[in-house]
Amino acid sequence: MKAVNSLFCRAALGAALLFTSAASGQTPVYLDPSKDIEARVEDALGRMTLSEKINVIHAQSKFSSAGVKRLGFPDFWTDDGPHGVRPDVLWDEWEQAGQTNDSCVAFPALTCLAATWNPQMAALYGHSLGEEALYRGKDMILGPGVNIYRTPLGGRNFEYMGEDPYLASRMVVPYVQQMQALGVAACVKHYCLNNDEEYRHQVNVIVSDRALHEIYLPAFEAAVREGHAWGIMGAYNLYRDEHNCHNQYTLNRILKQDWGFDGVVVSDWGGAHDLDQAVRNGLDMEFGTWTDGLTMGATNAYDNYYLSRQYEQAILSGKYTTRELDEKVRRVLRLFFRTTMNRQRPYGFLCSEEHYETARQVASEGIVLLQNRGGVLPIRAAEAKRILVVGENAIKMMTVGGGSSSLKAQHEISPLQGLRDRLKGQTQVDFARGYVGDVGGSYNGVTTGQDLKDERPAEELISEAVEKARGADYVIIFGGLNKADYQDCEGHDRKQMELPYEQDRLITALARANKNTVYVNISGNAVTMPWTREVPAIVQGWFLGSEAGRALAAVLTGDVNPSGKLPFTWPASLKDVGAHALDAFPGTWREGGKIIDEEYREGIFVGYRWADRQKTRPTFAFGHGLSYTTFELSNLRQSARETRDGRLTFTVSVRNTGTREGAEVVQLYVSDLKASVERPLKELKAFSKVTLRPGESRDVELTIDRLALSFWDEQSNGWKAEPGDFQVLVGNASDNTPLKAKFRLVE
Ligand code: GLC
Repeated sequence: MKAVNSLFCRAALGAALLFTSAASGQTPVYLDPSKDIEARVEDALGRMTLSEKINVIHAQSKFSSAGVKRLGFPDFWTDDGPHGVRPDVLWDEWEQAGQTNDSCVAFPALTCLAATWNPQMAALYGHSLGEEALYRGKDMILGPGVNIYRTPLGGRNFEYMGEDPYLASRMVVPYVQQMQALGVAACVKHYCLNNDEEYRHQVNVIVSDRALHEIYLPAFEAAVREGHAWGIMGAYNLYRDEHNCHNQYTLNRILKQDWGFDGVVVSDWGGAHDLDQAVRNGLDMEFGTWTDGLTMGATNAYDNYYLSRQYEQAILSGKYTTRELDEKVRRVLRLFFRTTMNRQRPYGFLCSEEHYETARQVASEGIVLLQNRGGVLPIRAAEAKRILVVGENAIKMMTVGGGSSSLKAQHEISPLQGLRDRLKGQTQVDFARGYVGDVGGSYNGVTTGQDLKDERPAEELISEAVEKARGADYVIIFGGLNKADYQDCEGHDRKQMELPYEQDRLITALARANKNTVYVNISGNAVTMPWTREVPAIVQGWFLGSEAGRALAAVLTGDVNPSGKLPFTWPASLKDVGAHALDAFPGTWREGGKIIDEEYREGIFVGYRWADRQKTRPTFAFGHGLSYTTFELSNLRQSARETRDGRLTFTVSVRNTGTREGAEVVQLYVSDLKASVERPLKELKAFSKVTLRPGESRDVELTIDRLALSFWDEQSNGWKAEPGDFQVLVGNASDNTPLKAKFRLVE
């Protein structure tokens, strides 16, 4: 009873305070933007009733949580996703609401953004997406995702930034900073160890502390410590037997205590499973909970949430004080002052030309020229009379589907359309289906409007394409994966690394029929390519969003010189991937079939780290990407041969030795020549993208620090750089680092 009295008194006091300050004409501290944000938080907290506090820490609808009406805090609106602002849904539905004012720009998938190796593109991306969110009235975007690419079968790898923690760290920070500069919160996801989809709700990841800190956490840490992310989304999976949406170690200890995170931890939708853990283990805002206690949510049952009435009752019954509640509410209020209560917020824009320019730029900078034997590319449009375009991915819309990142794009230019527009009046562009893959075309009530049905058997489709290929100046195949289940899609992982839908047969047949065959792979994952010797030119095309066709046509015709580099290793087969070679995916079911333990047996040896260790040759290496010009790297210099603090600067000369302007990514890898623990042969620790005119040469500086030399020491539970000899390897791909320099770290 005492608790209730004191709570009642506080509410009355709060109301009285508000009234007196209004009566006295004085602005209450929490409403005074000139006051320090923490003072405003405390003042607001002191005015809130228990129910008002409970209301702001859980969802009130599918994508919103309550504000505080009495005190003037607006409701708080979130929305997916990392590539664009999801269409509005009805209050408590997943299906879209059918509005006609919420079409958006679909920006390229984040794997493409990572492939630009250009942090300026990430800044532009975060800014543009933030403006779209502002216009659509969204206070938090549920993205970006930075889970590490551990297996080529990962269903959501297309939403993430590749296999390397340093690259992902450098690319996530500007995205978060520029989005939040507009007063729109980023919600970096899925924290942590959510590296596959199939059993994402049941997986308990077992991983060494070294791999956790050296591989899986750095991008999240950078987003928090450098990006100052205002939101982090807990992942569905478990770690140390606790669900990551309320996990004592990852949330309270690492995220909030060690990294000093002052934002809110948002659950993934349906990721909360236990009241006591939700109270004590770091969860601040609960969304999407399955309120019938079984599998899915009962309608409008937000009062059933853990952090709702049951939490309120538990406080009133004395099970909890308001200590944990007040800590959650402080974080939520801080989020409100940064977003909904932020009077400095600029205007938003939707589908502006600037946003389409961003989409085009990121797309064309992220496209990777993997192979170009005989200089087949760029297409010599002036001489080409007829080009044959083949493949379902030349016409299929890719912005619909794939799970929560699915969008209602205002437009999506297909590769076929892009080429036809670009070559109009110059070259005849024919089309052949080549294969039939996924003829679906709807997600959450958004439909592509395409009718891709084609009942013809593979034989007939292939022979038709081969027939049309004869005599064409070029054959350009657009194949790869799509956003259907068990392809590049949330909720499932792929079952194979090989291309689906008999594409290998098609590609091989066309390469034999026409020597100028180009294969463009549209996917967010690596696929096996057994025909690389027969196909002269190969391009990685990614899910490129609204401007896909324009960007691809620009690169294929040479209007744009490709400069993308792979953000992940392209293995020849799964046996060259640690997770599969060690039978460490998807894991082993426990008794009772509720939990599957997935032990990351490969440890820190993910991607090129594994390839270097096993001395396997990938089809294409991490950091690989060609250009229509050539570059020469030379004259590697270093600021010192010895260092005490680990800070060293390396300078390398880069010259454009070709005939057209282009951009090169200089990559610096560090090798610890003698360590007390096993370390990768080399690790990416600096990179810089430079654009040069033909003949132009420029010095590029790359700086490293002590952290670049360190490994996670499991004894001291911290970073450790051991004195001794190190080497940097500098080049333009992880398998091409011709310049080397040694140095010593001294005590
Ligand atoms: C989904 C996804 C998450 C998304 C959320 C809301 O299950 O895991 O990325 O933001 O639910 O749609």
